[in-house]
Amino acid sequence: MQLITKILDLRETRRTWQNSAKVIAFVPTMGNLHQGHLNLVREAKKHADIVVVSIFINPMQFGPDEDLEAYPRTLQSDSRLLESLGVDVLFMPDASDIYARGLEQQTFVEVPGLSYMICGASRPGHFRGVATIVCKLFNMVQPNLAFFGEKDFQQLQVIKAMVTDLSMNLKVFGVATTREDDGLAMSSRNQYLRGAHRKLAPTLYEKMQQLVGEIQTGRRDFIKLTQEYKLELSKLGFNPDHLEIRNIENLLQPGHEDQDLVLLAAAFLGKTRLIDNLQFRLKAKI
Ligand code: PAF
Repeated sequence: MQLITKILDLRETRRTWQNSAKVIAFVPTMGNLHQGHLNLVREAKKHADIVVVSIFINPMQFGPDEDLEAYPRTLQSDSRLLESLGVDVLFMPDASDIYARGLEQQTFVEVPGLSYMICGASRPGHFRGVATIVCKLFNMVQPNLAFFGEKDFQQLQVIKAMVTDLSMNLKVFGVATTREDDGLAMSSRNQYLRGAHRKLAPTLYEKMQQLVGEIQTGRRDFIKLTQEYKLELSKLGFNPDHLEIRNIENLLQPGHEDQDLVLLAAAFLGKTRLIDNLQFRLKAKI
């Protein structure tokens, strides 16, 4: 595995692949890799000849009160894991190279609509930071394929919209969420969970499954239903941020005709913000 830290060196390596017919896949990450990330890499390897992974903790997508400083950094073990999976290039740039003119002056990419709702409403500027860094990394790596986890469902939709809107010449793949044995969606932030919070965390997904179960057996009063479950989650010890049933494509409130839906959830346990989602197709009422 080649370790590259400078944009210029990445361009040099990219140039050597230019005239080959090789398919290049890209997996952007912020490091602290878990099985979810490794499954993205495994999926990428199935579809491509060359796999590039980036590790960059992107300051632009963190809010002023978020965990940028505390975000777990495990570069050595990440690098070993990626090498063992047969990754070709690990790109680990510095913020000074990525944001050479400083964050204040940085040109940005923003996907309107999708970026402002749900998680975007709770984390203003977050999806602008994500779209901007992903666009920049796409420009550097110039992949044919890119792989993202479905756990960050809204992020995936923002990136797909950006790729369409900016006519980018690559295909974006969403990979199913990897879960712990108890159902908790894998996330680098799970390690902030301790004791009782860690024990309670999988209940979020259990409650989401119950909620969708109620829909599939006939309930259609989505707003009341999600309010009831938010209250239940609060009583259990969560501090729910949102629990929303949305159209799976545009993430708008579902219309009467919409059948493919997603339940999007975010809830705090202490300071740790968990997110999860559950995609489902509405069954006809009996
Ligand atoms: O999902 C993440 O880890 C990040 O948001 C991403 C896509 C690597 C952009 O920084």
